[in-house]
Amino acid sequence: MSELSELILRRIRDVPDYPRPGVVFKDITPLLADHAAFGAVVDELAGMCEGIDKIVGIEARGFILAAPVAYRAGTGFVPVRKKGKLPAETLERSYDLEYGSAVVEVHRDAFEPGDRVLIVDDVLATGGTARATADLVREAGAEVVGAAVLMELAFLAGRDRLAGLDLRSLVIV
Ligand code: PRP
Repeated sequence: MSELSELILRRIRDVPDYPRPGVVFKDITPLLADHAAFGAVVDELAGMCEGIDKIVGIEARGFILAAPVAYRAGTGFVPVRKKGKLPAETLERSYDLEYGSAVVEVHRDAFEPGDRVLIVDDVLATGGTARATADLVREAGAEVVGAAVLMELAFLAGRDRLAGLDLRSLVIV
């Protein structure tokens, strides 16, 4: 395991029974509070952005990582948000979560035609959010080059829902 992977694992806290009994929540706030760890993660993700025009971040925790990665990589940033938060005309997709369901939206005019996009999020669980986001980005006229996450929960098999997408995970648990 790489030094960065070990650092990430040390800084992500398991919170049992949140947000409901039986779920172990992966809390990234200790990592964010550690300047060196947060910076190393942003740098690593930014290093995956060669040839990328726009980083897409997913509300809300995804924004925390994706925005500094976009700045560091010198790309644009596009937010994918929960329904009802974006002000202009949107495209939308509904999806199932590990707990509950939701709808995500993107501005219809968020991309230039053929923009090359990397989706960045904190955690890949069932893959529903990333899958819905990839579908939205394509519908908006851009090309999804891949997805990058801080942590992949392999036991939920989210990777299988992203077939055909280049998925990179800094740690897999
Ligand atoms: C979490 C996480 C990912 C998503 C992963 O976000 O930040 O976006 O779930 O789950 P999935 O792979 O099963 O779709 P959440 O919807 O809890 O929203 P938040 O970032 O606003 O807490």
